[in-house]
Amino acid sequence: MAGKAGGKERAAKAATKLCAVDDIPDGGSNGFFVDTADGRLLYMAIRRGAKVFVYVNSCPHTGMPLDFQPGQFLNADGTLIQCSTHGARFRIEDGYCVSGPCEGDSLTAVETEIREGRVHVKG
Ligand code: FES
Repeated sequence: MAGKAGGKERAAKAATKLCAVDDIPDGGSNGFFVDTADGRLLYMAIRRGAKVFVYVNSCPHTGMPLDFQPGQFLNADGTLIQCSTHGARFRIEDGYCVSGPCEGDSLTAVETEIREGRVHVKG
């Protein structure tokens, strides 16, 4: 019995608030710092209506952050995530690199949930 309650408590604590959904422009992107047990991580978030896609802001090519201007992660027409350093392009839906020096690699996806208009990072 206590194990169940304890597990629930741990699960609740494990989710960290990232931002409000409205902190991400619909059709656009934003970046956020999150303090974790392993240190401070920078995440990118892309919003498509009610859906939010979150990845670690680290390009699989060199590990550099992707944004040239803070929070700007998309290409000119807003259809792909684009790295500002060497131009790799990634699908928004799954972070897969479709062109550039790390073609075939993927961004590191971050599991999230949306509750009461806020995006929470799981685990
Ligand atoms: S660092 Fe992203 S494409 Fe080279």
